[in-house]
Amino acid sequence: MRPPQHLHPETSSVSEGFDPALSVMAARPPIYPVSTYCFATAEAAAHHFEVALGKTAALPGEAASLIYARLNHPNAEMFEDALRSVERGAEAAAAFTSGMSAITTTLLTLLRPGQKVLYQRPVYGGTDHFFRHMLPEWNVQAIAVTDDGWEAALAAHAKELGMVYLETPANPTLQMVDLGELRAKLDRACPDRHVPLVVDNTFLGPVFQSPLEHGADAVLYSATKFLGGHSDLVAGALTTRDPEIVARVKTTRAFLGTICEPFTAWMLQRSMATLWLRMTKQSKNAAKLVPVISAHPAVERVHYPTLFAGEQARIYQKQCRAPGAMIAIELRGGSPAAFRFLDALKVVRLAVSLGGVESLATHPRSTTASEMSDEDLRISGVTEGLVRLSVGVEYWRDLAADLGQALDAVSTA
Ligand SMILES: Cc1ncc(COP(=O)(O)O)c(C=O)c1O
Repeated sequence: MRPPQHLHPETSSVSEGFDPALSVMAARPPIYPVSTYCFATAEAAAHHFEVALGKTAALPGEAASLIYARLNHPNAEMFEDALRSVERGAEAAAAFTSGMSAITTTLLTLLRPGQKVLYQRPVYGGTDHFFRHMLPEWNVQAIAVTDDGWEAALAAHAKELGMVYLETPANPTLQMVDLGELRAKLDRACPDRHVPLVVDNTFLGPVFQSPLEHGADAVLYSATKFLGGHSDLVAGALTTRDPEIVARVKTTRAFLGTICEPFTAWMLQRSMATLWLRMTKQSKNAAKLVPVISAHPAVERVHYPTLFAGEQARIYQKQCRAPGAMIAIELRGGSPAAFRFLDALKVVRLAVSLGGVESLATHPRSTTASEMSDEDLRISGVTEGLVRLSVGVEYWRDLAADLGQALDAVSTA
């Protein structure tokens, strides 16, 4: 692979990671649907296995050899290079079969039995399930922290702390966390060792937020969402400042078999070329829709970064480059109002995912967040009337008209 270049991410997202000279001078990346790779000699095979297993250091200038597609393959490598090049502060990246496998493979690599994870709620429902139902089986306790409780939680659990984990903005309420401040608090609480700060950046993506520049050690993505961007694949990704973290996680990935397969990795790389275009248009669309939605009498409150006040507004200004395409709408009248609204939509589709070119809406309380405890739902502000909207690339006035008629349907019921 070519060495990293210092191009603007809008440029590197188009071609980074792909060298035509390595692929019959093709202008765009081909797909390598190949499970196993050949060696020139038996001695070379033995050497590459020793390098892959960490028994021998690679020779100076020697690239990691392709061996078997559960370990590595060209399409994963090309996507990883492209993602690394657009994630400010990143030195390495890894691709996975899903956002959940990116999260679980990373956490199972970095955490040890007996350790604790502090996390800010809300987190995506699948992550919440992993924290509350699966990590305890491995003797890892995940403890939810509320906004103003970090100082106390860090002091109480510093000794066994293995990781701090959060989503900012969080799914589905868009609650933000000041990463720089949290990093400083974490370092004060654990002065003798570096505890990883892991951030799920799915909602704003590398286009609008760079957690590694604010003290995060690892950034996770559901690449199913904005990175893939077309609701036609399931994948995940990890980026880090320290390549050693990605190297360790890739070893776990090889044994769990959670590497993204070639066709999906190829689609992801194809999507990277339009990431800026899509996310910029989606964010602009959302920003235009927010005043229309907020003004409707059926709406109690809209959660969107440009509407934030106080501390949340300060974090948004400091940490993000644009508000993004996710809007959380609280309707008056609880679940019945939310259901009426969702059922009345005609252009916006009713589905749980987000980040695609098409606009999607969902009711988190009865779907993705339905497993959260009542206490977590209350503290996280995931109310009965909350609807999450992922804005696509459509003409915004069509979306405004659709949302308007669906909100009218709530008011007139
Ligand atoms: C913020 C966030 N993180 C992680 C995930 C899990 O990703 P995947 O569905 O690709 O496994 C999701 C899925 O909705 C998500 O919204």
